[in-house]
Amino acid sequence: MKRIAINTGGGDAPGLNGVIRAATLGAVNRGWEVIGIREGYAGLLDPSGQGLIPLDREAVRGIAHIGGTILGTTNRGDPFNYPVEEDGKLVPRDVSDQVVRRFNELGCEALIALGGDGSMSLATRLMARGLPRVIGVPKTIDNDLLGTDVTFGFETAVGTATDALDKLHTTAQSHRRVMVVEVMGRYAGWIALHAGIAGGGDVILIPEIPYRLEPIVEKLRSRYENGRPFALVVVAEGAVAAGGEMVFRGEKSAFKEHAVLGGIAERVAQQLTQATGYESRSLVLGHLQRGGSPCTFDRVLAQRLGSAAARYLDETAESGLVAMVGGSTRLVPFAEVMGGTRCVDPGDELVLTARSLGIAFGDEAPGAFARKDVPVSSGLSVRGIVTSAGRGMVVPVER
Ligand code: F6P
Repeated sequence: MKRIAINTGGGDAPGLNGVIRAATLGAVNRGWEVIGIREGYAGLLDPSGQGLIPLDREAVRGIAHIGGTILGTTNRGDPFNYPVEEDGKLVPRDVSDQVVRRFNELGCEALIALGGDGSMSLATRLMARGLPRVIGVPKTIDNDLLGTDVTFGFETAVGTATDALDKLHTTAQSHRRVMVVEVMGRYAGWIALHAGIAGGGDVILIPEIPYRLEPIVEKLRSRYENGRPFALVVVAEGAVAAGGEMVFRGEKSAFKEHAVLGGIAERVAQQLTQATGYESRSLVLGHLQRGGSPCTFDRVLAQRLGSAAARYLDETAESGLVAMVGGSTRLVPFAEVMGGTRCVDPGDELVLTARSLGIAFGDEAPGAFARKDVPVSSGLSVRGIVTSAGRGMVVPVER
């Protein structure tokens, strides 16, 4: 009988449990045994044995709709840079040989590793040390993994951010305020772009398009002076001013791959108030975007990827990432997905869509937001409809 292991590494994302469920059922239905490793690779280093969980039908029953991961996760679990306590202090140590030895002692033939770019690069380094085989499953709310069109967790995060924008819309309008909302995404602007369009943002700032304050001020003035005296500004946490730098909340830790971004929304809000005199407020959606139940799309995607992971283990002898490419799963070599970030192309159709909706990115030429509306011709009779959110639209009824 074949025995395999599953782990989840890096930040959590809605859908992890769906992958665990589908991969486990795919394995169990082939007559294999499955071991869940707790908290990345940490479970393999726990001498008590508590770090390992047998995964069977019962263990994965009814979990696909639940957020988080039943295995736990960590973004401080790099076995090549592992926090080990020495003389009362945590110091980084290479424990990769121990991890590989324990994995092989368990008699596991392969690992299904759910994670982002960091987890995929760890998997390949561990294979070089003797881990037999790894199938990666792309996870991150940031949607920034190379080699795959989409990662599970993204759609749910966008839904959460969009809900927040819908709620902020009414309070922004009531108080005539500029609400500046910071969303996650690390060095990619996918969440900001999708949620900004879906939630009716007036300005979207993303890392891929460095912004200047002037076009944003012009956009806000154009709204305030034309009867829309409030605005929603959606800022990706990695957004950067032209010639400036990303804003971080703290120093990079010795055990973490990335320093934590944060604080850009507050900075932008203050600058906008100073430049316009309009009252503004900022808020950071933060980990709300990683929590909660996966949306329908992510539940399906997660279980699709989990099933495919078991299938590729069965039908091929390869290692690689189970990617979604053009609507189908594909096993992509790790070399193709590592060492980069899938960022928003400033020429992407979604960016063009936003621009055509009048959304500002902060890189526009002066005068870009001057009103160019042509008055409705006198031969056209019109009727106005005001939606519950207060946004007006004019519908021609006859010529
Ligand atoms: O990669 C997922 C993510 O949520 C990013 O969007 C964010 O920058 C980061 O993780 C936050 O990490 P942490 O959970 O360590 O604060």
